Amino acid sequence: MHLTPRLKAIADSINKSRTIADIGSDHAYLPIYLIKNKKTERAIATDINVGPSEIAINRIKQWGFENVIDVRIGFGLKVLSPYEADTIIISGMGGMQIMEILKQNLEIANSAQKIILQPMRDSYLLRKWLSKNYFYIINVEVVKENDKFYEIIWTSPSEDKKGSNTINYFDDRLISKNSIILLEYIDSIYNKYKVISTKLKNHNTPNAIKRRKQCVKMMVYCEEVRSWVQQNAKM
Ligand SMILES: C[S@@+](CC[C@H](N)C(=O)[O-])C[C@H]1O[C@@H](n2cnc3c(N)ncnc32)[C@H](O)[C@@H]1O
Repeated sequence: MHLTPRLKAIADSINKSRTIADIGSDHAYLPIYLIKNKKTERAIATDINVGPSEIAINRIKQWGFENVIDVRIGFGLKVLSPYEADTIIISGMGGMQIMEILKQNLEIANSAQKIILQPMRDSYLLRKWLSKNYFYIINVEVVKENDKFYEIIWTSPSEDKKGSNTINYFDDRLISKNSIILLEYIDSIYNKYKVISTKLKNHNTPNAIKRRKQCVKMMVYCEEVRSWVQQNAKM
């Protein structure tokens, strides 16, 4: 079974789990892979929609894993009981959507040992929310898939409730590692703001002027981070 780079990076980080819950599992590729590779004893594949859940059930049957992978239909973490899953994965959704899923069932989220999140956008806002809500950020990595960059966040509910850490647009844990993909990621953000700023060049409304200033600030920040990574980060 072949996983995409996003899902492979998540799977590679799991070693010995008792029960993983994959929220919004869709096709259930990840739970099947984790069971097949003996990275977890049991898995729960959940989805809010019936269609993807039926596809997941069929795939799980094809692999003969119906006794170790449960399929549940429902919103986010609502389909889990506290402490049922030691590892919760929510990947392939927007950052705000992930935030809402965690927010609506904080008790379940707080009962997991590790939560792995892979937002398709708004990673910075999600990390800020996590930190404010006492989820300790263990690690952040970036993966490239189909020429797009995606952050993966490994977090754990902070036991002492003092575990909030400083959150920057480019996470400190991410920029401490030098890699070609990280530099490409920084450049992609730089280019995103450059395009917006160029488009706004001939607009002189107060909002356009304000937005352009924000873009220029982000571009300067990207240049600073890029130069810091090249000089200081570990290879
Ligand atoms: C784009 S797919 C991502 C599939 C897989 N997790 C991945 O990363 O490739 C998103 C899936 O999440 C499901 N989903 C969306 N909102 C959800 C929610 N609140 N609770 C559970 N599943 C949800 C959708 O039905 C869809 O199957």
